Amino acid sequence: MSQNTAIFNLFFFNPQGDYRFSWRHPEAPGQEIFTLKYYADLARKAEAATLDNIFIADHVAIWDTVPSGLAHYANPRLEPITLLAALSAVTEHIGLMATASTSYNEPYNLARYFASLDFLSQGRASWNVVTSWLPEEAANYGLEQLPEHGYRYQRAAEFIEVVRKLWDSWEDEAVLINKQSGYFTDPQRVHQLNHEGKFFKVRGPLNVPRPPQGHPIVVQAGSSESGKQLAAAQADIHFVFMSNIEKGLAYRADMDRRLREVGREPSQFKILGGVLPVVVNTPEEKQQREQLIQELMNDQMALDLLTTYLRMDLSEYDPHAPLPPLPAEEGFDGLRTALEIIRGYDANLTVLQLGRLLLQSSDSWLVIGTAEEVADKLSEAFNAGAVDGYNLMFPFLPVDLDNFIEQVAPLLKARGVMKQAYSPGTLREKLGLAPVANQFSTKN
Ligand SMILES: Cc1cc2nc3c(=O)[nH]c(=O)nc-3n(C[C@H](O)[C@H](O)[C@H](O)COP(=O)(O)O)c2cc1C
Repeated sequence: MSQNTAIFNLFFFNPQGDYRFSWRHPEAPGQEIFTLKYYADLARKAEAATLDNIFIADHVAIWDTVPSGLAHYANPRLEPITLLAALSAVTEHIGLMATASTSYNEPYNLARYFASLDFLSQGRASWNVVTSWLPEEAANYGLEQLPEHGYRYQRAAEFIEVVRKLWDSWEDEAVLINKQSGYFTDPQRVHQLNHEGKFFKVRGPLNVPRPPQGHPIVVQAGSSESGKQLAAAQADIHFVFMSNIEKGLAYRADMDRRLREVGREPSQFKILGGVLPVVVNTPEEKQQREQLIQELMNDQMALDLLTTYLRMDLSEYDPHAPLPPLPAEEGFDGLRTALEIIRGYDANLTVLQLGRLLLQSSDSWLVIGTAEEVADKLSEAFNAGAVDGYNLMFPFLPVDLDNFIEQVAPLLKARGVMKQAYSPGTLREKLGLAPVANQFSTKN
């Protein structure tokens, strides 16, 4: 059954919220972030509010090669697929979306993990495909340096192709468990892939049957040229940073063109905008919050973030002077979204001012105001067709989630922008995404 309301994801960048300094908020959790209970409570709340997915971001390293890294932002995190497998046992309807890198895994591993998560959750698994861009990650996988951007995307494209083949290596009718005949499977319906490509050589079949969704949902967030091409070819859901409706509509038009070029139907591709929804009920509350944010931030962390995003050593520059010339886009291997955002800012801002802006997740859309105002903005962009839904990137957890659920969600429901109840079926069915045909099917 299709859904004509917006999709809402509860996004975890850090367990304590979207800012790298969220952990310093007076009400932020402490050691609880290493317990199941912390996530289970949030997941149950999200499910009671009929959010669509719990989405967990990931890096496979500690961001520790910058001065503020280890001391101020060590970002330890639980492995997302493991965590979501545990959450599948305490939830019933909500989608479970885990980030996993195509640069530091093998297709057989991820095909198996996501197929298993899909079984355990009865069809609620999604995979956020990332190519990983931190040099610290490469160093954990035997590499001297980060593989270059184009290479990472080529590997990702073949990686997803092999994962899909592995999910298809069992036909739906392959499992017999026929005690009389003695056939556990129908051997005609379990297939080797014998894949041999540029990056992978995989015989198959997978040792897990075809998952309940056929193919768990594939999500992609890269916004470079190769990122958008990969999304158009492979993704069911695409994350974007949208700063206004006009830009959102232009982005969608561009993606629609790319989808048609590869023979895909645009309605089968859901675009979700990143948004920081913050409820403040009075101008004083807004001011207090802004002040708190300024106090919680750390200047070194701001400079480090800029350094990491831009791959520029800024230690020689005066933090109170404007930024030196930015790197050229061609061959740029930092975070392209950040490069674009910085280009859009006033060139007179100082290095530190820019760093502090980025530290406030300024690449996402801050929607701050009363519950009515937040609901208005979210309804407006959805109703205009700029997005199919949102990644709710709450700056502070759990407080901002609680405020959203208590105050904004009822308004969105009353306006028909948020659904009232879950539809039956797998996540793919709930989101109105078509079934994927099995490429090895012997049925005619
Ligand atoms: C909402 C969102 C979530 C993301 N989550 C992750 C993540 O968990 N891990 C990661 O390595 N990159 C993550 N990224 C980064 C993207 O995968 C991608 O590398 C980035 O947007 C740059 O695009 P490009 O690779 O096409 O240049 C995320 C991006 C967005 C917009």
